[in-house]
Amino acid sequence: MDELRILLSREQIAQRVAEMGRQITTDCAGEPVIFVGVLKGAAVFLSDLVRQVRVDATFDFIAVSSYGNRARANQELAGSWESSGEVRLTKDVEQSLRGKNVILVEDILDTGLTLTFLKRLLLGHEPKSFRVAVLLDKASRRKLAVAADYVGFVIPDEFVVGYGLDYAEKFRNIPDICVLPDVSG
Ligand code: PRP
Repeated sequence: MDELRILLSREQIAQRVAEMGRQITTDCAGEPVIFVGVLKGAAVFLSDLVRQVRVDATFDFIAVSSYGNRARANQELAGSWESSGEVRLTKDVEQSLRGKNVILVEDILDTGLTLTFLKRLLLGHEPKSFRVAVLLDKASRRKLAVAADYVGFVIPDEFVVGYGLDYAEKFRNIPDICVLPDVSG
């Protein structure tokens, strides 16, 4: 593990997630919320975030598979990888979101392809309100104009793992967010 360099420590993450939880609590004004996490990366963030929110909260999960996933996109960035590539729904939410307050929870916002797809999909449910919380925002890599309502940290264009984020499915259980130097080059 000594090849990993800590970018955001578990203490920094916990402090920021608590702040985000307080902000969401304020904004929800006592109304119930459904938190929709995007598998798999957002599972860790969602589990911490919902415990920092003082509202009547339930949660659900959705999953997509993307040609432009983080690992492959990174390898293909210099080449011909296009953000117009396909995002495919592999697991839908298990309840209707119609008339509900929904917060979509993502670990990382990168090119914006996934969030653009998911926003369109979930707004089709006609929720009462729809907001997006992301822990990490690689704003410099955006290819589609999409933004989150709550952002934990804006980070540089480096390949990060830990706290739910993986490289080839590894490192999701590391408590800190770390840079994987060999991949981020
Ligand atoms: C990550 C992340 C987002 C997506 C963001 O998922 O969880 O869903 O990439 O990238 P984009 O803005 O370029 O679309 P990933 O494909 O790594 O899957 P995982 O959550 O299962 O690790």
